[in-house]
Amino acid sequence: MKVLAAASEIFPLVKTGGLADVTGALPAALAKQGVELLTIVPGYPPVMAALEGAAELHAYADLFGGKARLLRGRAKGLEIIAIDAPHLYDRPGNPYLGPDGKDWPDNARRFAALARAAADVATAKLGGAGADILHCHDWQAALAPVYVKFSGGPQKVKTLMTVHNIAFQGQFPASVFGSLGLPAQAFAIDGVEYYGNVCFLKGGLATADRISTVSPSYAQEICTPEYGMGLDGLLRARRDVLSGIVNGIDDEVWNPADDALIAQTYTAKTLPKRLANKRAVEQRFNLEPGEGLLHGVVSRLTWQKGMDIFAASIDRLVAGGARLALIGTGEAGIEEAILAAAERHKGRIGVMLGYDEALSHLVQAGCDTILVPSRFEPCGLTQLYGLRYGSIPIVARTGGLNDTVIDANDAALQAEVATGFQFAPVDQPTLEHTLQRAAECFADQTLWRGMQKRGMASDVSWTRSASTYAQLYRNLLKA
Ligand code: ADP
Ligand code: GLC
Repeated sequence: MKVLAAASEIFPLVKTGGLADVTGALPAALAKQGVELLTIVPGYPPVMAALEGAAELHAYADLFGGKARLLRGRAKGLEIIAIDAPHLYDRPGNPYLGPDGKDWPDNARRFAALARAAADVATAKLGGAGADILHCHDWQAALAPVYVKFSGGPQKVKTLMTVHNIAFQGQFPASVFGSLGLPAQAFAIDGVEYYGNVCFLKGGLATADRISTVSPSYAQEICTPEYGMGLDGLLRARRDVLSGIVNGIDDEVWNPADDALIAQTYTAKTLPKRLANKRAVEQRFNLEPGEGLLHGVVSRLTWQKGMDIFAASIDRLVAGGARLALIGTGEAGIEEAILAAAERHKGRIGVMLGYDEALSHLVQAGCDTILVPSRFEPCGLTQLYGLRYGSIPIVARTGGLNDTVIDANDAALQAEVATGFQFAPVDQPTLEHTLQRAAECFADQTLWRGMQKRGMASDVSWTRSASTYAQLYRNLLKA
């Protein structure tokens, strides 16, 4: 079975969040299921720089405003097709934002090009064998099923649209429609039209053969007005083809027993060695050393992640005797609130504003907890890294957080199955109460150790979910 995945990020080439972790890990995980997966990605500078042994599959005289080539090759261990289109992708920095922090003004064309190229390759329009399945990730690839559907005539390829976050939809004014190269009838209820605008994700959800999202809870949630962000009606109508498959982690990249990015490697059996990482975190974050509870955060600092509420809870966290190491970047107001808290509590609150892959590993390896107080969370990966590294997740009861962490309530503690703490609703009193619960558990080190070991022993790898994806692909082929 040949699968072409289309995505705007892939670890370790380009990453702004969990999407990259997932698209980067799936090829190897699916290979073990007998699935051959090739990923088509925009030719951003780091992609082009890493590309080796590239063969030209096709040359476009004009792909959304300039010449482009599709280059098939390997990059940092991944099999990819890079879209070499300098007029669209040869720009420094973040894949979506210009240096002013705003979306690139031509994002509609930049990601329509990704989808167009993906559809052309998958339908064998450019020659070659095409693909059996075209697997599209998020709004940036969501026009691909639309191109397939409106390409004229029946197509062999089946399409799967995976939603990693329904908050990001790729909405543009109707005026962009003319530049997309779609027939007029695609600007309609069963195409890309959305309240008079163009919505890429809506187009993908309306036209894909199957829809998936990244946890079973989120699959339910996005069918409700509260979480569906306007697309819940369409999703309810397509419920029969919607499913939720929880993400796994790349357990080679994230392995505490063999991680060059942490101060001291360890396993569940050699857990006391983990303390060396706590010392290293204290040093890196200018924290007073100590044996007390040390919370960790690795997150986008956004409303989605509940980081405004968390910032407001920091004084209580400190009053309860705990410390915090936080690495993140995001909304200016939240960054300011967190910096101000760090200023108020020098030595107790350590903050690094920015993005640092290595430091994110150290936080997971050295902190006692990992905090994820999200208002909504399609899956979440940091709590999975926490489970693997023995930093106990404290999470909101929503989406994939709900599906991957077992709350330390009395029943779960008695049955010895708890792996973390869940809370709802996401508000300051409930978060503060949960921080208190965690502090009480931490005081009982035998209990805490037990939870750490259970988390570390739980299977957060891709094995199960990769087989679910493979099954879904097979069902699609039969459909
Ligand atoms: P999302 O994709 O919504 O941001 P996930 O939990 O799925 O949330 O994935 C976030 C990914 O980004 C994880 O791999 C996490 O370690 C990483 N990450 C987030 N913020 C930072 C940061 N400031 N520095 C390094 N890695 C980060
Ligand atoms: C999105 C979601 C996150 C999920 C990730 C990978 O960024 O916000 O919850 O883990 O995609 O699927």
